[in-house]
Amino acid sequence: MREGQTTVIRREDYAAPAYWIDSVELTFDLDPAKTRVLNKMRLRRNPEVAAQALKLDGEELNLARVLVNGQGTSFKTEGDQLVLENLPTVTDAFDLEIFTTCAPEKNSKLMGLYVSQGTFFTQCEAEGFRRITYFLDRPDVMASYTVTLRADKKKYPVLLSNGNLVEQGDLDGGRHYAKWVDPHKKPCYLFALVAGQLVAREQRIKARNGREHLLQVYVRPGDLDKTEHAMNSLMASIAWDEARFKLPLDLDRFMIVATSDFNMGAMENKGLNVFNTKFVLASQATATDVDYANIESVVGHEYFHNWTGNRVTCRDWFQLSLKEGLTVFRDQEFSMDLAGEASARAVKRIEDVRVLRTAQFPEDAGPMAHPVRPDSYIEINNFYTVTVYEKGSEVVRMQQTLTSREGFAKGMALYFQRHDGQAVTCDDFAQAIADANPSSELARLLPQFKRWYSQAGTPQVAARGHYDAAAQRYTLTLTQSCPPTPGQAEKLPFVIPVALGLLYADGLEIPGSARTVVLSDAQTEVVFEGVASEPVPSLLRGFSAPVVLRYDYSDAELLTLLAHDSDPFNRWEAGQRLALKRALATIASGATEQPLDAAYLDAMRAVLRHPQLDAAFKELVLTLPSETYIAEQLEVVDPQRVHAVREAMRGQLALELREDWAWAYEQHHDTGAYRPDAVSSGRRALAGLALAMLCLAARETGDVVWPGKTYQRFKDAGNMTDRFNALAALVQSGHALARDALQRFHALFKNEALVLDKWFALQAGASDRGGDVLPAVKQLMKHPDFTLKNPNRARSLIFSYCSANPGAFHRADAAGYVYWSERVLELDALNPQVAARLARALDRWKKLAEPYRHAAREAIARVAAKPDLSNDVREVVSRALA
Ligand code: ARG
Ligand code: ZN
Repeated sequence: MREGQTTVIRREDYAAPAYWIDSVELTFDLDPAKTRVLNKMRLRRNPEVAAQALKLDGEELNLARVLVNGQGTSFKTEGDQLVLENLPTVTDAFDLEIFTTCAPEKNSKLMGLYVSQGTFFTQCEAEGFRRITYFLDRPDVMASYTVTLRADKKKYPVLLSNGNLVEQGDLDGGRHYAKWVDPHKKPCYLFALVAGQLVAREQRIKARNGREHLLQVYVRPGDLDKTEHAMNSLMASIAWDEARFKLPLDLDRFMIVATSDFNMGAMENKGLNVFNTKFVLASQATATDVDYANIESVVGHEYFHNWTGNRVTCRDWFQLSLKEGLTVFRDQEFSMDLAGEASARAVKRIEDVRVLRTAQFPEDAGPMAHPVRPDSYIEINNFYTVTVYEKGSEVVRMQQTLTSREGFAKGMALYFQRHDGQAVTCDDFAQAIADANPSSELARLLPQFKRWYSQAGTPQVAARGHYDAAAQRYTLTLTQSCPPTPGQAEKLPFVIPVALGLLYADGLEIPGSARTVVLSDAQTEVVFEGVASEPVPSLLRGFSAPVVLRYDYSDAELLTLLAHDSDPFNRWEAGQRLALKRALATIASGATEQPLDAAYLDAMRAVLRHPQLDAAFKELVLTLPSETYIAEQLEVVDPQRVHAVREAMRGQLALELREDWAWAYEQHHDTGAYRPDAVSSGRRALAGLALAMLCLAARETGDVVWPGKTYQRFKDAGNMTDRFNALAALVQSGHALARDALQRFHALFKNEALVLDKWFALQAGASDRGGDVLPAVKQLMKHPDFTLKNPNRARSLIFSYCSANPGAFHRADAAGYVYWSERVLELDALNPQVAARLARALDRWKKLAEPYRHAAREAIARVAAKPDLSNDVREVVSRALA
């Protein structure tokens, strides 16, 4: 494998480009073995930068010809760059023509131009365009694109690129061509082409302003019946952005194309979004409610990038969160607004916070910790992280909290008024939001607020309450701190909006107590007068800031919050804290039996049987904190102990509440004709949890009825959610019927790649019993349907085991780590981006107890010892060992 040199790129070294590229005319002769690319550019020197050579990026290209103003010219190559020194010195525009070839069928990295199931696709973000042609591959160089595609007409009947189709026709030798012009200037990372045998679902719409648009969702011929939900999601996205932010669609044609080989979720190429099939294709027979929800949010996310990312883009890749944090915020708000009423919005908020706390908090506490706007990187692909995306979204959300919903919308309008068509920074964004709201807390505290962009680590807010009965006064003291992260030993105080309220012990909210306190000092005191008796504080309502809140809650206080808080997020949080307290106490005690007491079990029963609460909310409350989340609360982690204790808790919850679970299943399992809406998907989720619990309880009681019913359900289910939940209940309880069910499931769906991914993932993620998961995973590697080359399939088996099943992965015999190191190396030779993601599975090795810690270090060192590692994996493992 060939890799560029290991150079650290630093934000402070940013310099404007020495040349601008005004326009690009690309002509492709598409051939999987050898594609010819003619690139005609019109360039001009940037007069604001000292005259210097033009250095163009290129990777794995065969260079055939370079012409300047139609004439041959001298050039040299330096590493991966093409260097032109003798260019016209005047600042007049000149033409540069470069002719190269590349081999898409050999491109296993899935960056640049590649072939997936006989169809050509491109992926250019972040630095893939340089694998297509020599270019100034940086987001602050924006050009107009004209693209001509030529290919065999039979094999590649559909030829797509960005913008509008202006010409098409036949050529000699069974070939044809299409010419596309993009009316908008764009950075090269937003370039795309697609060529192959595809069909499209089409929809013509008329926007509020009267403009007509053609929407298309392109898929392989057999998949057309799975595109309705994606199209509906796209139409909903367009309507939402117009309504909430007055941002219209600026194109005549908007296309989505699905590919089964994709490194990430999806890509917002201008007018031609390319999606992982996982986030496009859905039918009730093959997709779960979670898939439906993900499709809605990813379609929204990529569509919203059309403004936040494409119309206004990033000056450099350190500013990635400018578009990603903001666009995640927008897609979260979109899903919340579509969910409808307050309780459904809260469910979405809880799900988002759960992702943040189980994935981003560990990242922020580990070796890869970086600010939302990083200061340096070796491989930018390693910085498409939960910090840049999810924490970045929280940083935008706090800006909305500090300016109000209307104020934030005004700020967005000012941002576009100032920066439309530009490549800008995170500072520019926050400045626009603040300037549009001059009397807001954000404007008052802006320089300090921006520490959220520059300081890594999860801040901790410790709260203490003091009640003075004589004075009827309650004083809340909030103290903030932030642990050190790599390269940042000391942190300065953050601006932290803490939404809170006070409840009396009987659950009644104290009138006038609800407020948002904005912390900016290390310590803040809040005084409440006229408080008749000792209150229960409900702190960080709605998770108003991405922090760890420490408050020494008693059980009684948590039970009050769980039963009565007006903030649904904190009701859920109280339940989680009750469970966490018990998990931590049991882990510390050394015992494993009966971690749960009657008070907890009664509270959970009350939630489960509650006449008013939504099923979706109940399901969230009754789901115990994950092993990963529990582990994060410990100084030293014995993963087997965490697993054993959590399993004991689950077993107890299953057994002690079995009649309630049976009741819940009977009440919720019939949801009528399949619709993926919030209410019916919530009912299915609760029925699914109930079945899982009933199968688990059956292990103890020897009951055969519920496993039998579950198997029947698995066979009869009218939709994938119910079918998969039943299958998972059998697998997770280790029931003998699981084997047969798994076989049937495979036979039923052997031609549905996305369903097979679920089949692999379920087995790799199964609850470990005596180390039985790893042998099963190894066996599945030999299954004819397994391949390392397809990222979805590799993730479904290997990541589900290494990254999502701690109880099975962390083995005292170190076999899980050996398996991990082998797969990282194997994947690295094929696809470094995917390999580097897998490499992150051992990020938190330093927290592990022995013998895990030592064995994990050895496994990482084994990977690091490989001489020709990609930059991607090298950066991850060397940071882990540092
Ligand atoms: N911009 C895309 C999205 O968030 C992600 C593309 C990342 N691709 C990559 N190779 N790093 O929607
Ligand atoms: Zn994005």
